[in-house]
Amino acid sequence: MDHFQYRDGILYAEDVAIPDIAAAVGTPFYCYSTATMTRHYQVLAGSLEGTGARICYAVKANSNQAVIRTMVELGAGADVISGGELQRAMAAGATADSIVFAGPGKTRDELAQALAVDIYQFNVESEPELRLLSAVASEMGKVAPVSIRVNPDVDAGTHEKITTGRKQNKFGIPIDRAMDIFDLGASLPGLAMLGVAIHIGSQITDLAPFEEAFDRALGLVDELRAAGHDIKRCNLGGGLGIPYSGETPPPPAEYGAMVKRLTANRQLDLVLEPGRVLVGNAGILVARVIHEKHEGRRFVIIDGAMNDLIRPAMYDSWHDIVPVREAAPDAMISAADVVGPICESGDTLAKGRPMAPLAPNDLIAVRSAGAYGAVMASTYNSRPLVPEVLVRGDTFAVIRPRLDIADLIALDQPPPWQSP
Ligand code: LLP
Repeated sequence: MDHFQYRDGILYAEDVAIPDIAAAVGTPFYCYSTATMTRHYQVLAGSLEGTGARICYAVKANSNQAVIRTMVELGAGADVISGGELQRAMAAGATADSIVFAGPGKTRDELAQALAVDIYQFNVESEPELRLLSAVASEMGKVAPVSIRVNPDVDAGTHEKITTGRKQNKFGIPIDRAMDIFDLGASLPGLAMLGVAIHIGSQITDLAPFEEAFDRALGLVDELRAAGHDIKRCNLGGGLGIPYSGETPPPPAEYGAMVKRLTANRQLDLVLEPGRVLVGNAGILVARVIHEKHEGRRFVIIDGAMNDLIRPAMYDSWHDIVPVREAAPDAMISAADVVGPICESGDTLAKGRPMAPLAPNDLIAVRSAGAYGAVMASTYNSRPLVPEVLVRGDTFAVIRPRLDIADLIALDQPPPWQSP
């Protein structure tokens, strides 16, 4: 359920007509709905009620300050993957004690930065990282709260590039090595070995791999406790999928019920790291048709491109594309490739989509673009990053302005041997 609906044939975000935003900010632009984010957060949080689970929003999905702040105001903490994300999360109001730091390649500086502010937890992914964290924490006179991210060797059944929980993936410590790592951690200075963490991938649309992975992680908690480790926490990661086009991911209520069933009576502080499920369907990318080209195939050429939304090019992912002004019921529908102006064939947002005819300047909306959209954008082809707009009720605000090409050029510095 989202808040992008047609009214009298025009697409609205909550109570704001998309053409009004386009007139104010130009195209392309990202548009997010506060009500949708709020609803998604509340449904997920509601499904976990009574578990005491912390929802640490995976800010990598959408790290605009206003989006993080929306989540923080709803009660979320933050899951961060870099020193930059740590700073972003804190700048948006996340308190350090609600932040978990994940990722397979944290640098010494990043560890020190997180130790300095006393974050809730480090999800440690390797033995060298554990040793480094111990050394840095000891130098700083700190005790680092540690969960070990284990790799449960479960196939999440998702896209090759976003599955993380199989043993050939770079993430975590193989679950059968976990006991040794906890023993090592317990013997090193500067570490509090508190918990087990997992994250098996993203856009998972089936409950079974989650259950299998959680079961393995919780089995490990039992073994570690039996061996004398005082395990207090379990971090269940993110990964819950969303409907992009007819998928039927498990409803949060079922996911929550499963988490409750598996964790009951285990006395664990739970952490979840959802990203996509909170923001994915709360965003659209709005673009304008430049023109149609008919040369054997029908191409709809728009002013949005792969640099603005790279998911179709990178993961062959599907995003519904709809006209902002609804087509007439008797419009001639035919298959079209929706493409951007970038000089490569990968710059295709959709292939062979049934669409009504579009005229120059018509607006289209690429749906489900709230997660891994703006954050993965680049300035390829010297296309400045596009604005982001947040809607709340009948108002909207630009939460990131369009970058100016002059500012982009000004980032380059001439070497001393070239005249400026
Ligand atoms: N926790 C960890 C350790 C992660 O690596 C991720 C995502 C999450 C949580 C949040 O996962 P989510 O709930 O959003 O599925 N760019 C790709 C997705 C990459 C996901 C990376 N890790 C895409 O556009 O599909």
